[in-house]
Amino acid sequence: MTVRPATGADSRAVWEWRNDPVTRAVSVTTGEVPWAGHSSWFEAVLADPSRHLLVGLCGDEPIGVVRFDGSALGAWEVSVNLAPTARGRRLAVPLLLAGRAWLGEHERVESVKALVSGSNEASLRTFRSAGYVESSTANGWTTLLLQ
Ligand SMILES: CC(C)(COP(=O)(O)OP(=O)(O)OC[C@H]1O[C@@H](n2cnc3c(N)ncnc32)[C@H](O)[C@@H]1OP(=O)(O)O)[C@@H](O)C(=O)NCCC(=O)NCCS
Repeated sequence: MTVRPATGADSRAVWEWRNDPVTRAVSVTTGEVPWAGHSSWFEAVLADPSRHLLVGLCGDEPIGVVRFDGSALGAWEVSVNLAPTARGRRLAVPLLLAGRAWLGEHERVESVKALVSGSNEASLRTFRSAGYVESSTANGWTTLLLQ
């Protein structure tokens, strides 16, 4: 597994993965994201130095994205979404690890936080396997921390 920063050429695939029904069901915003809204969001993310959107590659095949949003100096929030065709093969753990390594090479990292729907067992297991530890649960959402 390797990661590289997303480019404009990744926008459509990232949009399609985001609108997958399973992804929508576990997202904070569950509605379908229209292309125009996605497109401006995507451009804003790429232009924002405090956010890093990384594409995971198995060989040459893009298999998903991991995103890090900086909230304070050294404090990051992570989210991960695999291409629907890449799920069920435990690829998210190596993607999270490769993403964390990339982040450490480019930014100061004190902590990485993940917010996961408490019913999203695959995601909870993934983050635990990648070294994240549950720190709190509120309103059906679990916060996990990597320090
Ligand atoms: C969550 C996600 C990243 C996991 O990707 P993955 O690497 O393909 O994960 P797998 O399906 O291989 O499963 C990972 C673990 O969860 C378990 N699992 C999978 N589906 C499960 C389910 N429905 N119930 C319970 N456990 C489940 C697997 O057995 C595996 O456990 P183990 O490795 O501890 O034995 C991927 O499903 C995804 O992109 N989902 C949509 C977006 C999302 O949920 N993002 C996370 C929110 S931040």
